[in-house]
Amino acid sequence: MSKKIIVKERGGPDSMKIVDNVLNETPKDCVKIKHDLIGVNFIDTYHRSGLYPIDTNSFTPGMEAIGYITEIGDNVEDFKVGDKVCYGNGPIGSYCSERIMEKETVFKIPNYIDDKSLAGSVLRYLTVWYLVEKLYKLTKEDVVLFHAAAGGVGLLFCQWVKTVGATIIGTVSSDEKGQLAKKFGCDYVINYKNENFQKEVNKITDKKGVSVVYDGVGKNTFHESLKCLSKKGLMVSFGNASGPAPDLNVSSLGPLGSLFVTRPTLLDYTNNRKDLEEAFLKIFSLIKDKKITSNVGQVYPLEKCSLAHHDLENRLTKGSTVLSVK
Ligand SMILES: NC(=O)c1ccc[n+]([C@@H]2O[C@H](COP(=O)([O-])OP(=O)(O)OC[C@H]3O[C@@H](n4cnc5c(N)ncnc54)[C@H](OP(=O)(O)O)[C@@H]3O)[C@@H](O)[C@H]2O)c1
Repeated sequence: MSKKIIVKERGGPDSMKIVDNVLNETPKDCVKIKHDLIGVNFIDTYHRSGLYPIDTNSFTPGMEAIGYITEIGDNVEDFKVGDKVCYGNGPIGSYCSERIMEKETVFKIPNYIDDKSLAGSVLRYLTVWYLVEKLYKLTKEDVVLFHAAAGGVGLLFCQWVKTVGATIIGTVSSDEKGQLAKKFGCDYVINYKNENFQKEVNKITDKKGVSVVYDGVGKNTFHESLKCLSKKGLMVSFGNASGPAPDLNVSSLGPLGSLFVTRPTLLDYTNNRKDLEEAFLKIFSLIKDKKITSNVGQVYPLEKCSLAHHDLENRLTKGSTVLSVK
């Protein structure tokens, strides 16, 4: 029997329950996908808790998965039953064993890509693609600061930025995470639990500061991060792992060095098929050339998704987190 996770009341990890899932026949322009591996992303916790509102009473979390096609609707020519496919920017509802998706949102996985290099990271690859290639075109002259460098997005970011040649300073909360970040290409690591990261950035950059800060931690790092930037530097506040970033007094950006600040979201950079095709082409080619791979730190069965959320929210995970479907 097909299963899905649902959230009725917004709240903690235990607000996710597993129920039977009844699927209709696949409609026109759609495909039915049997999931193998479902990525757990921080955004799933924001949907579950209510930080990012969903305007239906009950919903199934999850934005990404890998699986294969079990049925095609009318007017679907680019896919056939058995094709290995993935999707990485929703729509929400991937925490289930099987689902129906519009063909426009799904991408065929080339034969040379194995599950290991993509698992749990489809949304994160797309994120790193737009952060590095679209939002601000990094060059080898850049020195950047990335918070939570041993996390899911962090390890992919380190590998991708190494292909550009820029220098990465990464923050982590333990020595073990620091070693992992270094292994994946982070040039300098700062343990921001024990050290003042702003002081350390100052030392590493000889007081020049960094050209870009990528801050997915939010509340606990935002203001100090602004002080790590060089003149006309760019603050990319892209997440809320410790809570939403605090309010910003725009006038403060002048004395800090004429800074730029942006709060980007993945969907604004991947809201059409053309952009997604460009992104997947680049991602698959970097994986093929062995420049980048997913680092799956932990795998949970679908029915243990509450534990996966608990661990992600309590900084117990490394790299990407995956739910497996039997
Ligand atoms: N805007 C976008 O388009 C977009 C897209 C994808 C992801 N994101 C954001 O990117 C960030 C990383 O996402 P991810 O899914 O790959 O998560 P992740 O980095 O695997 O996990 C989050 C990490 O944040 C750090 N952290 C610092 N303070 C924390 C706290 N109080 N509670 C929990 N974690 C804390 C932890 O690393 P340490 O233990 O090393 O501190 C933790 O492992 C998230 O904020 C997510 O929302 C944004």
